[in-house]
Amino acid sequence: MIITIDGPAAAGKGTLSAYLAQTYKLAYFDTGMVYRAVGLQMVLTGLDLNNKEEALKIAANLTFQQMIELSRHPDFRSDIGSNAASVVSAYPEVRQALLAMQKNFALSPVFADGTPANGVIYDGRDTGTVICPNADLKLFITASAEVRAERRYKEYAAKGMSTSYEKVLEDVISRDERDSKRSSAPMKPAEDAVIIDTSFLSIAEVIEEITPLVQAKINQTR
Ligand code: DC
Repeated sequence: MIITIDGPAAAGKGTLSAYLAQTYKLAYFDTGMVYRAVGLQMVLTGLDLNNKEEALKIAANLTFQQMIELSRHPDFRSDIGSNAASVVSAYPEVRQALLAMQKNFALSPVFADGTPANGVIYDGRDTGTVICPNADLKLFITASAEVRAERRYKEYAAKGMSTSYEKVLEDVISRDERDSKRSSAPMKPAEDAVIIDTSFLSIAEVIEEITPLVQAKINQTR
């Protein structure tokens, strides 16, 4: 069972993925991590993010284990890590170099503790279009930039990270722009994706909408 969940930052993909992974006992691959790992490694090594060749070298040598180690760094999810990921993810060669790691996960998916799983939830921007075009169920989760900035701002505030709503909104808009306008694998719903706008929905309402879709796929694949 493979479910892909694509859409812009802070639309609710992470929460939904975690819920579905836990409820249906599926492994989870947050594919933004591959770009965050490459971007953060560039920053930590003092490399200019515009240096595509160096980004490619890092991407080509990145292992799953290194990615997990980098994910423990405090800037992995900060605006520094987010911005670096957004820049390096626009390089087609970097995307190509990171493709196999993402695709191969579905061949033998594992939980965080290494035990095997019967399926996987992919969360990202191009998982339904590029990484797993044959997924059983494709979701595209979106929300207005203002609603997403508000959610992200509250998350940062809860973690004690100092920033302003205006700055977060600006970042959300510029990342959307970069993610949806890049030449390689731009963020867009797959033709067969179910699109859900969560601007005015609670997570419980989103789950209510999605559960029958997942259930129907489970019944079909049995
Ligand atoms: O989902 P996220 O915020 O962790 O993603 C970080 C960056 O990586 C974001 O700018 C978009 C990019 N990304 C991508 O291009 N393709 C993916 N499948 C996942 C993320």
